[in-house]
Amino acid sequence: MGQTVLVDQAFVQPQEHRPKTVVSDADGIPLIDLSPLSSDSDVTSAPETLLAQVEAACRDWGFFQVINHGVSPELLRKAEAAQREFFALPDEEKRKVRQDEQNALGYYEAEHTKNVRDWKEVFDIIAHEQEEIDVVGLVLRNKWPLVPLGFRETFEEYAKSVEKLAFRLLELIALSLNLPSKKLNIFFEKANSLLRLNYYRPCPNPDLVLGVGCHRDPGALTVLYQDNTGGLDVKRQFDGEWIRVKPIADAFIINVGDTFQVWSNDKYTSAEHRVSVNSEKDRISIPFFLQPASCTNVRPLEELTDEKNPAKYNEYSYGEFIRARKDGNLKKLEVQNIQI
Ligand code: SIN
Ligand code: FE2
Repeated sequence: MGQTVLVDQAFVQPQEHRPKTVVSDADGIPLIDLSPLSSDSDVTSAPETLLAQVEAACRDWGFFQVINHGVSPELLRKAEAAQREFFALPDEEKRKVRQDEQNALGYYEAEHTKNVRDWKEVFDIIAHEQEEIDVVGLVLRNKWPLVPLGFRETFEEYAKSVEKLAFRLLELIALSLNLPSKKLNIFFEKANSLLRLNYYRPCPNPDLVLGVGCHRDPGALTVLYQDNTGGLDVKRQFDGEWIRVKPIADAFIINVGDTFQVWSNDKYTSAEHRVSVNSEKDRISIPFFLQPASCTNVRPLEELTDEKNPAKYNEYSYGEFIRARKDGNLKKLEVQNIQI
């Protein structure tokens, strides 16, 4: 009641979206140990128990954490250090690699989710070695800062390692849907994945703002690293309560996006999530977004629909969907049931 507002009005969330209702859940999102997978890239030897865990997590939560995933802890430390060093630079240094009208990659401090400003700074990188991608007419080229030294090499190595994990998870999830493990790989032949570095500084009014407003991820999969601060909240499917994701050292948080929800004809859930901030501690996170190529037409997979379970979605172009989502113009596409 009557608290002093110390942040710019642009950050203030409408009453119903303010982060006051996080409940604690002793277990939270499922934790899955990937050590039963052999270290080569073939996932077909995955035991049934692992597939059952993946299936339940994607169905009931849309989110899970993984440990023993094959990305080295040293690389995670190196990425976290480089990320912290970059965001600690003076604003004028960071703005040298700022996103602009011509190029939506690099540093940005004014992200909005649903027209409310997010309390964060970001740095966006194309995850693939190829330097340019075309999202329906949009050309994106990586911008690399000169400082901190080794920033580019660190995140190129990081992207490569996490992309490998993302493909193993894609194949594991395909198996969990009783599909051939490589059934979905064809949609990712043209690289369209993005690595985003997030920095959330402490906020004097954490109960009025969000680090990222409530949203769902549009792509296939997100593979997210977070530090030990905590702040990611996931909407629990069965009762709609917001559950804070417990930081686990060196784990990744995995969630399935809208693309998987549509492919699976609603068997799997693209869950709403958001980021709460706090007044004491900053936080970093690194989502890797595995996205199908822009030219992909997304629709429920034939293998997962039949007369009793007819397709719940119209086919849509992934590239146009992303473009419309960016422009806040989704209605034009008339994609059934998919919200921004
Ligand atoms: C996001 O969902 O975009 C960010 C998640 C996080 O920072 O934990
Ligand atoms: Fe997200």
